[in-house]
Amino acid sequence: MNSIKIHGNQPLKGVVQVHGSKNAAIPLVCASLLAKGKVLFRNVPRISDIDDLVAILRKLDCNVRFKGHLLMIDNTNLKYKPLLFEECSKIRGSYYLIGVFLTLFSKCEILLPGGCKIGKRPIDLHLDAFEQLGFESKTEGNKLFLVKKKEVTDVVVRLKNKSVGASLNALFSCLATDQVILENTLFEPEGKDVIVFLKQIGYCIDVEEDRIYYKKKSLDFRFVKHAIIFDRMETMTYVIMGLLCGNLTIQNAPIADLQYPLELLLQSGYQISFTGTVIKAKKSKGKGICLKTAPYPGFPTDLQALFGVLNAVGEGESVMEECIFENRMHIYSDLLKAGASIRVEGNKVYLKGVNQLAAISCQACDLRHAAALILMGLCSTGTTVIEQYDLIERGYEDFIRKTIAMGAEIEVLLNQVPNNVNG
Ligand code: EPZ
Repeated sequence: MNSIKIHGNQPLKGVVQVHGSKNAAIPLVCASLLAKGKVLFRNVPRISDIDDLVAILRKLDCNVRFKGHLLMIDNTNLKYKPLLFEECSKIRGSYYLIGVFLTLFSKCEILLPGGCKIGKRPIDLHLDAFEQLGFESKTEGNKLFLVKKKEVTDVVVRLKNKSVGASLNALFSCLATDQVILENTLFEPEGKDVIVFLKQIGYCIDVEEDRIYYKKKSLDFRFVKHAIIFDRMETMTYVIMGLLCGNLTIQNAPIADLQYPLELLLQSGYQISFTGTVIKAKKSKGKGICLKTAPYPGFPTDLQALFGVLNAVGEGESVMEECIFENRMHIYSDLLKAGASIRVEGNKVYLKGVNQLAAISCQACDLRHAAALILMGLCSTGTTVIEQYDLIERGYEDFIRKTIAMGAEIEVLLNQVPNNVNG
């Protein structure tokens, strides 16, 4: 198990570049199979979830070249195969291939998706949308099978609940159907970037509030280039790092898509300024921030744990409520161990800011928990040990190296697997 040691309370200073968005890149790479011709993505994050998707595309006989932040995908030789590759069950986003395969092949066999353990994370909303589009699904063990059962045309598909993944998957799966209206959809900035790409490759899609209007027409051959939007969550992770530990300048920040969380920080008195695509965040104290996570444009659930660390050493009281996922409160037991004044009741947490946290040993459970633990370690007195810290690599490019470059004292302890013990 890989772990890190953080010698806390080092002053951080420097400039950090935000990379392309994980939650845009994942559906975009899957959507590239829907293009008629080559696709070149720019600003692709170098993260393990994308490496896993690239491995899947190569197993589907796509020609994929990934150099720096450029990803070239040629799906000319793509053919139908059961998606039973190990990478499919490692990440959540592999499920976008279901919608893509239903449009391309009218069928799909896939290992059930993996992803962060932040709740049950069912895919019932996806399956319900597929069924409304004429597909029948069945699960056998850890495999999911779908096949076209009836032809539909000129159909209205209503998603039963707000879901980022189900909205995109419903869109991917309807592109072989003549005329579709999708209702009750939820597209965050990342999903909107995917729609921009689908229109670039020739699909006729109109978006209105929480509705999608789609009209099928034949695609002409194109070579499409698409620059992926920058990562909102990575941006805010570095902003909070600056507010906790130093004086950071964050470049390539998608500020227009972060108005709500940035406004909360400003109103609480934190030393933060922003203009264009640059945010400056200085070590400062702010009043406790009360929030409830909600579907976009509400407060992003992916920032909840990070704001929890900030509130733990902020001024005064705060109440935070996680309303999207049922098991995303891991960080609060770690903060309690580190000396925070905290009370958790179900998905609600009551905090009272303390002056200082003390270093602890802990273990990351998911991507954003890993990020929150690292922030906690950076602002704790003593040496924090974090096991499974490398979960961070699923969604943050070069996070440890970038943080060390800004003055953090971090030791990486890779798992020393003993040589052949019999040898
Ligand atoms: C996407 O997850 C993101 N993942 C998540 O980011 C993000 O937290 C979430 O959207 C909300 O913004 C990716 O984009 C790969 P949902 P997704 O479907 O699509 C329930 C990160 O840290 N639900 O909007 O899975 C679900 O359990 C990750 O980057 C069903 O009940 O989110 C949750 O309670 C974590 N049935 C709620 O809906 C379904 O079929 C919202 O989930 C689907 C979802």
